[in-house]
Amino acid sequence: MKRMLSGIKPTGRLTLGNYIGAIREFVKYQDEYEMFIFIANQHALTIPIKAAELRRNTKDLIAIYLAAGLDPKKVTLFLQSDVPAHAQLGWIMTCLSGYGELQRMTQFKDKMAKQETGITAGLFTYPSLMAADILLYDPEYVPVCQDQQQHVELTRDLAERFNKRYSDTFTIPEPLVTKVGAKIYDLQNPTKKMSKSESSPKGVIDLLDDPKSARNKIKGAVTDSLGHVAFDPENQPGVSNLLTILSALSGESIDSIVARYEGKGYGDLKEETGQAVHDFLTALQAKYKEILAEGKVDAILKEGAERASRIANKKISKVYRKVGLSL
Ligand code: AMP
Ligand code: TRP
Repeated sequence: MKRMLSGIKPTGRLTLGNYIGAIREFVKYQDEYEMFIFIANQHALTIPIKAAELRRNTKDLIAIYLAAGLDPKKVTLFLQSDVPAHAQLGWIMTCLSGYGELQRMTQFKDKMAKQETGITAGLFTYPSLMAADILLYDPEYVPVCQDQQQHVELTRDLAERFNKRYSDTFTIPEPLVTKVGAKIYDLQNPTKKMSKSESSPKGVIDLLDDPKSARNKIKGAVTDSLGHVAFDPENQPGVSNLLTILSALSGESIDSIVARYEGKGYGDLKEETGQAVHDFLTALQAKYKEILAEGKVDAILKEGAERASRIANKKISKVYRKVGLSL
């Protein structure tokens, strides 16, 4: 079985976009790959965050992933900070990264351009820590969204650099970029990505939203005046977005939904999509509450950290020997 690894930053509430674009994919991958999923909580410190908020986000995130179907028997699920080898290799990767190389990271440049104050050194060097996160486990694949692809490319460069300088040590990972069709858009502004940080409350569905209010958000979604249901993201972005959501949640193909809607209007489509979202959230939240009430999260994380540590500690010992840190 090929190995796959990904990290999730616990910086905010999860949206329906996160579910359809990422969580659902992970749940599918767990049967095909040896999966490692970790909560990148050290990355969350690159932007100031209150301790209580970080703790709550982390717990919510794990409970939602488990509720969505991630199976701790198949996936090694752990907290980054529970495996100190991440920070250890992170420093070595920071020292292997060029200053100019990190300056060229688009995400950093964008953040610099947007917010002039409060930029931390951690935000600048975090791609090096991300490289360490990946390289410790020798995964073949790293599923990420488009804006993280450059960081995986950097990881490949750093791995090659290390292998050349010290001898073969790391597997060169391949980024797996989420498919374009899986992108969910803001309900009020359907040419913009649905995003927890940038959408208006009416445009974004939070996975922990009250299901009834989520249904109303779908009913209030912006469409167009063409009046016929078709999958045409360019001319009918709002309607196409509803079709993507309905198809993702029901498993029915978009073509088949469109065929059923011949001669019907947007009202019916909103009704059906709203109901699908309502039912999906109701079931997800019931499982989420059950998981938190059972109090199993801590045990799952402990076991995950033990499994991850066995691999990561071996790797960091090897690296310490190769670079001359261990005598
Ligand atoms: P973010 O929450 O923006 O850091 O994204 C975390 C993951 O969720 C990424 O892998 C994205 O691919 C996925 N994701 C976030 N928002 C959306 C969206 N609107 N549509 C599809 N996927 C999304
Ligand atoms: N940087 C990623 C993000 O902001 C999260 C992340 C950290 C990650 N380490 C990783 C993703 C390793 C994949 C592999 O979303």
